[in-house]
Amino acid sequence: MVRTIIQTENMSFTYPDGTSALHNINIEINEGERVAIVGSNGAGKSTLFAHFNGINKPTSGLIKIDGEPAVYEKKELLQIRQKVGIVFQNPDDQLFAPTVVEDVAFGPMNLGLSDDEVDERVEEALKLVGMSGLEKRAPHHLSGGQKKRVAIAGILAMRPEIMVLDEPTTGLDPKGVDQVMEILYMLNSEDMSIIIASHDVEMVTQFADKIFVLHDGEIIGQGTPEEIFNDPETLKKAHLRPPKSAELLHLLNNNGFPCDIKLTVEEASHEILHTLGAESYHRLLHLVKNKLQHDLLHVLGDEKYHEMLHVLERNQKYVHQSRAQPLLNIENTSNK
Ligand SMILES: Nc1ncnc2c1ncn2[C@@H]1O[C@H](COP(=O)(O)OP(=O)(O)OP(=O)(O)O)[C@@H](O)[C@H]1O
Ligand SMILES: [Mg+2]
Repeated sequence: MVRTIIQTENMSFTYPDGTSALHNINIEINEGERVAIVGSNGAGKSTLFAHFNGINKPTSGLIKIDGEPAVYEKKELLQIRQKVGIVFQNPDDQLFAPTVVEDVAFGPMNLGLSDDEVDERVEEALKLVGMSGLEKRAPHHLSGGQKKRVAIAGILAMRPEIMVLDEPTTGLDPKGVDQVMEILYMLNSEDMSIIIASHDVEMVTQFADKIFVLHDGEIIGQGTPEEIFNDPETLKKAHLRPPKSAELLHLLNNNGFPCDIKLTVEEASHEILHTLGAESYHRLLHLVKNKLQHDLLHVLGDEKYHEMLHVLERNQKYVHQSRAQPLLNIENTSNK
């Protein structure tokens, strides 16, 4: 049976200065889900997250954690915070101890664990985020990306059931992004629910199985990445853009090459292959490498352009190899 771990009912929140930040939020998040909250600056993502572990208390409506309405007393809050670990948007809001090792140990120590257990968890968490060896460093002297990793380690060491990460990849280099995403996939494969807030549509598309779109404190859309990024009106309202591969397929669609909108480069290349058929595919590849190169570099950026080119070229081989066969069934699908 599906276990709902976070559920809000008409939850609204107004800050003490009168800023109304959330209005009638109704969301459900289930055990083991990978959820992304997307929305532009000031939409209310961080405000919403601070409700998930009881930092913020709804002004009206309610939030249930693991089926129980949140209770804002010391004992109950401790229980909630053991269950829900939040990695803040800004690591400086989280890191405070004089050394990395003390910072990561702080949470587990407060759980009343033995010294050995604390040491083991700290070592494991630092290893997972690739920060072993920096135990004695002062957190405030680390780089932005290193701080982020230590902040994640501090929460990992608590072994929460639900991990909430506010902008987990901001400020990380591409390798750092991959490492953090790998950690999140690994934790999720062990049934941990992961909730992230992000502006990074490429990452969100790959990662999330459920997306909530937040705009001006309201949920204006929810669904799978496919549903959300095929809904131009909601995206426009929320000031979000679709992933680059979807933009590319829209571009093709608008230029007389009917195709379904796909969200990853890999899927998009297959869609192009199927839509165009082998011969046109080669013509397209020629265009991409020559006449359209300048425009595509502009739309996609250097990295995505070369990623796309790589996939297209790889699939070109595939087309050659498949020529003898009935063109990969392209003839049957090219009119869809
Ligand atoms: N402590 C506070 N007091 C008053 N208003 C606040 C406070 N923190 C946030 N706000 C306001 O609440 C609204 C939502 O802010 P929030 O930080 O939740 O947005 P966000 O979606 O996380 O944005 P970003 O993408 O920039 O992180 C904004 O209008 C913001 O100005
Ligand atoms: Mg925020």
